[in-house]
This record gives sequence, structure tokens and C-alpha cells, in this order.
Amino acid sequence: MIENVNSTAASGTLVSLVRHGDIAVLRIANPPVNALSSEVVAGLAAAVDAFEADRSYAALLVHCEGRTFVAGGDITSFDDPDFSAALYNGTLGRIEALDRPVAAALHGTVLGGGLELALACHYRVAVPSTKLGLPEVKLGILPGSLGTQRLPRAAGIELALDLISSGRSIDTATALKAGIVDEVHEGKPLDVGLAYAQALVARDAAPRRLSAEVASTADLPADFFDKALADAVSRKAFYPSARNIVLAVQASTLPFAEGEAVEARLFEELRVSPESQAMRHLFFAERQAAKIPGLAKDVALRPIASVGILGAGTMGGGIAMNFANAGIPTVLVETSQAALDRGLGLVRANYEASAAKGRLTAVQVEQRMALLSGSLDDAALADCDLVIEAVFENMDLKKQVCARLGKVCKPGAIIATNTSTLDVDVLAEATGRPADVVGMHFFSPANVMRLLEVVRGAKTAPDVLATVMLVARRIGKVAAVSGVCYGFIGNRMAEVYMREAEFLMMEGASPAEIDSAVEALGMAMGPCRMLDMAGIDVGAKTVIEYGKAGGLPPDDSYRAVVRKMFELGRFGQKTGSGYYRYDGRKPVTDPETARIAKEQAEAHGIAQRADIGRQEIVERLLYPLINEGAKILEEGIAYRPGDIDIVWTAGYGFPDHQGGPMWMADRIGLTAIAERLAHYAQVRGNPFGYWTVSPLLARLANSGQRVSDWQGAAAFAEKRAAVWQGR
Ligand code: 3HC
Ligand code: NAI
Repeated sequence: MIENVNSTAASGTLVSLVRHGDIAVLRIANPPVNALSSEVVAGLAAAVDAFEADRSYAALLVHCEGRTFVAGGDITSFDDPDFSAALYNGTLGRIEALDRPVAAALHGTVLGGGLELALACHYRVAVPSTKLGLPEVKLGILPGSLGTQRLPRAAGIELALDLISSGRSIDTATALKAGIVDEVHEGKPLDVGLAYAQALVARDAAPRRLSAEVASTADLPADFFDKALADAVSRKAFYPSARNIVLAVQASTLPFAEGEAVEARLFEELRVSPESQAMRHLFFAERQAAKIPGLAKDVALRPIASVGILGAGTMGGGIAMNFANAGIPTVLVETSQAALDRGLGLVRANYEASAAKGRLTAVQVEQRMALLSGSLDDAALADCDLVIEAVFENMDLKKQVCARLGKVCKPGAIIATNTSTLDVDVLAEATGRPADVVGMHFFSPANVMRLLEVVRGAKTAPDVLATVMLVARRIGKVAAVSGVCYGFIGNRMAEVYMREAEFLMMEGASPAEIDSAVEALGMAMGPCRMLDMAGIDVGAKTVIEYGKAGGLPPDDSYRAVVRKMFELGRFGQKTGSGYYRYDGRKPVTDPETARIAKEQAEAHGIAQRADIGRQEIVERLLYPLINEGAKILEEGIAYRPGDIDIVWTAGYGFPDHQGGPMWMADRIGLTAIAERLAHYAQVRGNPFGYWTVSPLLARLANSGQRVSDWQGAAAFAEKRAAVWQGR
């Protein structure tokens, strides 16, 4: 019987109190993840009122409908100017203060505000598959509903600080051992919860309140918090959340009300911080990027049960590991036994290295290897649902390979190319079945990097695109769609970034000065270290090939340094020297680079100067990159500004606390960026259009709008989709 329905939304009843004998079940039903919207919070408060008023209940059980217990506070609400956690926190306090036992029945992902709700209950029972955690740090905040106060009291300070600082989830075995849950039972969450609540009533269990305790420091070294704070400040300097988390957890050693006040102040500081706003933007951008505008929701997906990969080199092997990790049988095809053995050998070595670090068991290594097979005959690809070519980056070879795949692959199979720069439409035509073709641009190392750029060809079928987006999710990648252009979203923008890095070098800045300027903003690696790692040879060959294809500006000085380095055999880390000299893997300044840069500057009439400051380096590296992003949007190459941000944060080490280049552009201000681009056009000259402000950027700057809000590209893509549907 539903006694009380207090909170409803268009989607139905959000919170209700349902009688099961003498147990009141407080049921939350807010799909998809039972996030704590303001309506849910109001419903919780009303349900507590109703429970308080009805003395015939012996106990309260909190239970959630659907796939999970509450997975967190409603992240969208954090942007509300009048955001307040007071009602929720007060309601948690009221739940804890109830004078009859309160239990939580946990399942799914008990995260953030969900775990905070569970901790306010007196007892917790879980089904075995439940995962628990306080992931707020990943959003640049801290648990703001007493998680920093109740978790240390339940699990001890050390584990609580570890969980809150890392945001990692734990399983029920760990949670049980740590005292975060009391019992774990198989079954439907509601049944498990009711049986547990009835047992509590039967044994006359008393309410148990974490707030009545104080977290103990007895087992901790005296300098525990000082060290933790110093570590947070030095190792996570870009993240104010790291420091605030230590301070909040430290406050769990105070009486509860004092700790509560400390947490509230530290939470609020973070909620309004630019770092958290940027990270929240990326949370939603990542989910948005998986959506394809204009694509019918009911598009039937192609089943993907087996995969084939052509080429078992650096990329082919890494790509294969993704599928084996997801339990999908994969065949690798090579041209020689030696190449195949080398490729599969490297995959095994990678798995064994993971096993040595304790990340995989020996059995898992064998299970994954058993999913991988090799062949020298491309007929082995005939039954595969998805075939990815990862042969050398050479147009003639790839055209031949694609023509062959068009014949060998079964009807309905998806043919994907991992090309980094070549025209996917040309390759698609070469197969003779362009609707089946799509780009799947993995990043190196392909088994590690999270990004997958999905390249939509002019004729890629909608179901192919939709299927590949789902495949990306199955193999744990974050996917963003790019249209066809040189370098797609990521490498096209990286090209202008590298161009300026080299001009700065020719003008007299050292690789270390260039790298450190952007690393100081949080970039994982500056452009020079990045290319030394990826391979100067790879970079130079791409530039040379693009030049041959007529893509480069008629500028002899364009990337002159990388070409010279390539000529000299300085291929980067792999040959011990590139922009830097390598002492093992450590980059050291090499005077030879300065000499080469000076020689190139002289050869191309570029004046050297000593006064290149850090600000100029940052502006010259990042503003053209942002400008290129605006062009990419305007051309409909990316669907949304957020997709560009995802490409750069997931694929190029762009700092998440800056939110990606387009988000960062809005923080800097588009007018300021347009003005500086115009300034460099003036002082450096602009014969090749390097500094020409993109019309979109100029328009948005003039009208005071944000590029992050711009939605024109999605509209453009929808028009394309309409063309598809009518095909
Ligand atoms: N708030 C608002 N919306 C949320 C949300 C949240 N906390 N968590 C998920 N969603 C939305 C997603 O945006 C997505 O919406 P869409 O369908 O419109 O794109 C939908 O729910 C489904 O999410 P996923 O696609 O991510 O579904 P998965 O099944 O892959 O993952 C999940 C589920 C593990 C719960 C994952 O969504 C997740 O990690 N969510 C965030 C959890 C989190 O960070 N919780 C802490 C929030 S902050 C907090 O609680 C503060 C507190 O201390 C006061
Ligand atoms: P690689 O040189 O390491 O491997 C290519 C492999 O393809 C070699 O093992 C070769 O024997 C094999 N091969 C050549 N012709 C073949 C054929 N006809 N049939 C079967 N196998 C054949 O090259 P890498 O680095 O793996 O690059 C592969 C593709 O991935 C290229 O298109 C490259 O642009 C792209 N890519 C490379 C990245 C990188 O960082 N290395 C990043 C992203 C994409």
C-alpha cells in the first residue's frame, strides 16, 4: 500500500512511503540513476515527516527502484546561483535522528550523495554486485552532504581519505571489511532489504548514529594530516579539491556539528571554483559527445560479436587488446609470420606487465590471449562483424587494402580505418561500399588512451555510426565524432600548435621554455616532449606527405625544424635525441637543437630575440589552437564545442581543470583572444593567414557570446543527417 506520495515529476512518483507489514519502505524512483534532484530531496523530507507521524512502523528501509541506489547529487543543480545543500543535509540529519531503526538496501552504484544517504541510515545491507564510492573529487568538489564527516567515522580516517581523495569505488567485500556495510546478501535489493529490516526489528536493534562518534586518530602518526596536506598541495596543485578534502576529513575529528560547518564552507569554495565548473562541464560533455544529432533513436544497430584487424603493428596490437579486454574474439592479419609473431608477442608482453603489477591474474592473461588469433590470410576476416585496418599510413597501400576489404568482408560488416590523416571518403570509395565505412582513430598507446575519434564519412550509414559509438562504450573509450578533414579534430588543431612551437623555437625560445609555459597551466606534456615521444619521424612524414598533397601553406619555414630533425635522424625519444636529448627517458636540453633552430631561422629570414616571455608562448600556442577549433565548429567538423574539449582532454593531456580548449577560451574571453590574434598578425605579419580570426570567433566575440554555448554545428549536422535518412 502506498501511504504517502509526496514528490512527483512529469516522469511519475519520485519518492513514496510504502507499507510492508510494520516496515516503511522509503522508495526513490528517479531514473536513470536516482540522482538527488530538488524534487527528490523535497520528497525525502516529506517521507520522513510521514514516517515520524506514524508510530505503527517498527523500522524504515530506504530502497531505490531501477538499476541503482542513488548515484549522487544532481550535478546539474550545482550551477544554480541559489544552490543549497541545507535541505538535503538537514533531512539526512533527521533520518539519522529517527528513534526507530533505519536501514538502506544498496545495489548498483552507491555514489556521492547516495553513499551519504546510506551513511545517514543506521544500518546498511547490500547485494554483492554493489559498488560504493565518493567520486566528487572527479568533479572538482568534495562530498558536501557529510560524507567527509560520516565516512571517516564508519571506515577510519585513512581509508576515508584515500577513497574521497581518489574518488575510486570499492566492492562489497572491501566495504564489509571496512564497516561501511553491515551485511551482504544475494537477491533482489528490496527482498534483501526487507529481510534485513525485519531481522533488525526481531532483534530489537537500536538506532546507531555515526554523528554521535568522533573519528579516531589513535592509529595514525602525529603528522598524518600535515603530510597529507603537503602532498595534496604539491602533487595536486591544480586541484583545490585535494587540499580542501584533507581539511574536511581532518575536521571529522571534531564534534559533528563543527565538522559539518567546516565541510560546508570547504564544499562551497569548491562548488563555485572555475576548476570544478570546468570538470562538471566535461562530465556532461563526455556524455553529450556520445549522442549523434539527427540520428533516429530507434536505429537498428549492427551486432558486433567478432572483430578483425589488419596490421599488427604499434596500433593494431593495442587496438586488439581493447577488444580482448571486452571479451570480443579478434583476429589479427599480417603480411608475414615475423610481423604477426612480433605483434602478438608485444600484446602478451603488455598483458604480462599488467599481471606483474597485480592488475591482472595469470588466468586473465591467458583468457585474453585466447580471444586473439592471427592469420596471414585475409580470408580470416570474412566472418568478422567489424574490421579495422591499421596498416602503414600510405594512401596507395590503404586504397589497395580497402578495395580488398570491400570484397572480403561479409555484407553488413563495418569497415573501419585507423588513419590519422588520410581522407576517409577516398578510402570509403575504394571499398566500393562507402556506407559501411567509418574512421576509428585510436590514440597511441591504443590500449591505454581513452579517446576514440569516430570519423563520419560523407556516406557513412547512420547505423554504422551508431554501432561504432556503442562499440566505443563497450571497450571503455570516450568517443567524439569528427567529420572528414586533414587530421580530423585533434591532429588538425595539434598542427597549428606544433607550427607555433617551431616558430617560437626559431625565434629563440628553447623546447624547455616552450613546454614549461603550457605545463604550468596543467598540460600533461608540452608540444616538444609530446612529439619527441610520438616520434619526430612520424610527425615529419605527415607534414611532408601533406605538403605533397598540396595541403601546406606556401611557406618554406613551415615546420622547418621538424623536417631538419628528421633529416638528421633525430627521431625523438626512440633515437635518444629530438627536440631534447634523452638521458634514459629523461629529456635534457640539447644545445644542438638551439643550433638547428638558429640555422633554420637564418635560412628563412626569421629574426631571433631574447625576450620571448611565458605569456607570449602560451598565447601563441593556445590561441591559434582555439581559433582552429572555432573553424572546425563552423565547418560542421565537430558537432559541439564540448566534443572538441573531450578530444583534447581525453586524447592530448589537456588539463581537465581547464575544461578543454573551447571552455578555456570562454574563461579567457573571446574578445581578448581575437585582439591578441590580431596583435600577432600585426607584429609577425600574416601572409599565410595564420593569425586570421575565424569568422565564428569574431562574430561571437563581437556579440559577447560564449563559444561553449554555440550550437550551430549540431544544426548543420542535423541537416546532413536528413540527407542520410533520405538516401
Ligand atoms: N546528476 C545528474 N545527472 C546524472 C548524474 C548525476 N549525479 N549521474 C548520471 N547522470 C545522468 C547522465 O548525465 C546521463 O544522462 P543522459 O542520459 O541524459 O546523458 C544519465 O544520467 C546516465 O548516466 P551514464 O550515461 O553515465 O550511465 P552509466 O550507467 O554509464 O553510469 C553512473 C552510471 C556510474 C552513475 C555514472 O553516471 C556516474 O558516474 N555518475 C556520476 C556519479 C557522481 O559523480 N556522483 C556524485 C555526484 S556529486 C554529489 O553527490 C555531491 C554530494 O556530495 C552532495
Ligand atoms: P606500424 O608500422 O607500427 O604498423 C603497421 C603494420 O601494418 C605493420 O606491422 C605492417 O607489417 C602491417 N601491414 C602493412 N601492410 C599490410 C597489409 N597489406 N596487410 C596486413 N598488414 C599490413 O604502424 P602504426 O603506427 O601501427 O600505424 C598504423 C596506422 O595507425 C596508420 O594509419 C597510422 O597513421 C595510424 N595511427 C598511428 C598512431 C601512432 O601513434 N603510431 C596513432 C593513431 C593512428
